[in-house]
Amino acid sequence: MAKVLSGAGLRGQVAGKTALSTVGVSGSGLTYRGYDVKDLAQNCDFEEVAHLILKGHLPTQAELDSYKNTLRSMRGLPVALKEVLERIPADAHPMDVLRTGCSMLGNLEGESSFDIQGQVTDRMLACFPSIICYWYRFSHDGVRVEVETDDDSIGGHFLHMLHGKKPNELHERVMHVSLILYAEHEFNASTFTARVCASTLSDMHSCVTGAIGSLRGPLHGGANEAAMEMIEGFTSADHAEEEMMGKLARKEKIMGFGHAIYSESDPRNEIIKQWSEKLANEVGDTVLYAASERCEAVMWREKKLFCNADFFHASAYNFMGIPTKLFTPIFVMSRLTGWAAHVMEQRADNRIIRPSADYTGEDLRPVTPIAER
Ligand SMILES: CC(C)(COP(=O)(O)OP(=O)(O)OC[C@H]1O[C@@H](n2cnc3c(N)ncnc32)[C@H](O)[C@@H]1OP(=O)(O)O)[C@@H](O)C(=O)NCCC(=O)NCCS
Repeated sequence: MAKVLSGAGLRGQVAGKTALSTVGVSGSGLTYRGYDVKDLAQNCDFEEVAHLILKGHLPTQAELDSYKNTLRSMRGLPVALKEVLERIPADAHPMDVLRTGCSMLGNLEGESSFDIQGQVTDRMLACFPSIICYWYRFSHDGVRVEVETDDDSIGGHFLHMLHGKKPNELHERVMHVSLILYAEHEFNASTFTARVCASTLSDMHSCVTGAIGSLRGPLHGGANEAAMEMIEGFTSADHAEEEMMGKLARKEKIMGFGHAIYSESDPRNEIIKQWSEKLANEVGDTVLYAASERCEAVMWREKKLFCNADFFHASAYNFMGIPTKLFTPIFVMSRLTGWAAHVMEQRADNRIIRPSADYTGEDLRPVTPIAER
């Protein structure tokens, strides 16, 4: 007889140690190596935060310049990888493209030793935007986009390749903020996937490929895309309210709301919401932002459920002309820093992760010979 497992989803259970981030600890909503994410989002470029997470400290100006130069020099894609990307159809999900791209990169430029884990990570950080945009532009526009741009930032590089022109200052800043907000989040599902894989002493590309697969699901990274699909159907704030009430009455799960750890608010929401509003004003939007705000109010009023990081990311990305199906790959461009740092942390003090299960199956029984079954 099936038995209800205690602590389903491992909720609330400590599964290891980390010095990388705290999530939902009282007094600080989210911190990376001791810095509040709000402070980082206000004062830093994404590359500074990647340096903090991966190398342990905020860089000096000279270190940041050098780090950006290194990343800039690693944007190119090997011919064999471009050939693989050209064979993936336009209707493929970009997360599948990225999963394949990461795995193929591992075949071409494998992690020959853990001594080069930092270089392997920098390479992925630099070229994941190239993988996404090379495939997207080739399969959708028939263009072999130039991936070795001279843009200052990872977010700028991405938008430049996607739109075929350099982004304006506002858009580049929003990308910095967005990538900072998504960079690290303790033992979430995809990071835990990466750590389990790392604990077998597997290579970095396998850890990241597995993590991409975990992030793909709508209960994790896919929520910003699902939120966009919902809000783009609203014609006004009142219409949004009417639709939300219907969904709640039908007990539908509404993507972009709720969180496994935070109980009253997601600290990332207020930050991305402000930037979404700035972008709405820039494009002269009168519907999407207002409808999103109304969704937020209705969910709080009716269910005490709050927006997580994904909800206002949907409208923000949309205002910057980013196609909905590329939302979750942007999450990968950022969370890669957290995944890789967790892999390194796991390797530094490793024991294979191998929990036990409560057995709910049949009692011990003999095998009936095949002719008698
Ligand atoms: C994030 C999430 C998976 C957390 O799951 P969880 O910790 O297991 O929380 P629960 O599903 O137990 O939620 C508790 C209650 O709130 C409800 N609830 C939670 N999130 C909800 C949502 N987004 N829409 C409607 N109801 C929701 C649940 O149905 C449950 O109600 P019940 O007790 O009547 O069954 C969940 O909130 C969710 O699915 N959100 C939508 C997906 C999303 O935005 N994911 C991105 C996370 S950053």
